[in-house]
Amino acid sequence: MYTFDELKSIFTDYIKQNHFDKEPWGLYDPVNYLMSLHGKRIRPVACLMTANIFEDNVSKALPIAYSIEMFHNFTLMHDDIMDDADLRRSNETVHVKYNVNTAILSGDLMMIMSYKHLIDCCDDLVLKDKILKLFTNTAIEVCEGQQYDMDFETDDNVSISKYLLMIKLKTAVLVAATFKAGAIMGGASDEDTDNLYKYGLNLGLAFQIQDDILDTYGDQSTFGKKIGGDIIQNKKTYLYLKALEIANKDTANNLRSLYNNNSISDEDKIREVKDVFNRLNVKDHADSLVAELTENAMDHFSALSVPKVKLEEIKKLAEYLLKRSL
Ligand code: IPE
Ligand code: IPE
Ligand code: MG
Ligand code: MG
Ligand code: MG
Repeated sequence: MYTFDELKSIFTDYIKQNHFDKEPWGLYDPVNYLMSLHGKRIRPVACLMTANIFEDNVSKALPIAYSIEMFHNFTLMHDDIMDDADLRRSNETVHVKYNVNTAILSGDLMMIMSYKHLIDCCDDLVLKDKILKLFTNTAIEVCEGQQYDMDFETDDNVSISKYLLMIKLKTAVLVAATFKAGAIMGGASDEDTDNLYKYGLNLGLAFQIQDDILDTYGDQSTFGKKIGGDIIQNKKTYLYLKALEIANKDTANNLRSLYNNNSISDEDKIREVKDVFNRLNVKDHADSLVAELTENAMDHFSALSVPKVKLEEIKKLAEYLLKRSL
């Protein structure tokens, strides 16, 4: 079995081999730029690791792992325009370093490139059909989730269940599809494939809530994104929605008006909103939900019909996601 670090290094080499060395530079440079910044590579590694549970040779799953990472990076390139974010992986975002039109078109290219790698993923037409259907449905769901995320910025009636649906669509389904694709490429049974999808779905929900927590409570130098970005953008995160749920009327009104206040400075808004979050201990609530979702994930994991020894590395991946600070 390969370790996380070994798979990450195999994958990094594959990215280098697929570096674009062609014109027009204005189109390909931003793709090389974003793809070579140090992302955690959770999705491609998870895909390879899942394939490795069922198959010793992981090279068959490499084009799919690459395609997933390319698709993920495309969503980040466009997400940073939508979220008006300046910082990504501790570097300038593409629309800041280049410009918005470049980030739109290079992002479009990445989405198409990710499909190109899926089309070339294998000769087995039945397998290819399964993978293409999985990814097409997932990609549509990610767009739906991103639209909800933007709609919610100006919606004062977002419930926690609507939030959970939004993060399921924008984040969790891609993580779930990643595990499922690895299982399909490794030749897993339908039952194991299904459990791995559900495992990824729960892990993906936990992962996005952890991302929300880090957006307010993380350390910018390790997180690599601007701390407080969600608060500035009026994002209806779990922290915000839980705060509204448990606050008394005055505190809830104060929090709502801070989010709707356009004249307050970014720094004051972040400080005051965070102050409300701290007084209500919402971080503890969010931490508990992350732990609960991770446990749900582990239930599906325990149901897998493979020897426990084959699952050690993937278990570590879940623990890493739960404890991550970046
Ligand atoms: C960021 O994903 C977007 C979310 C779904 C939270 P990652 O946290 O995996 O970003 P990178 O690829 O490691 O930069
Ligand atoms: C991103 O959610 C989800 C997708 C990119 C599809 P966020 O907007 O929270 O991700 P970050 O925090 O910018 O990485
Ligand atoms: Mg976003
Ligand atoms: Mg964002
Ligand atoms: Mg975020």
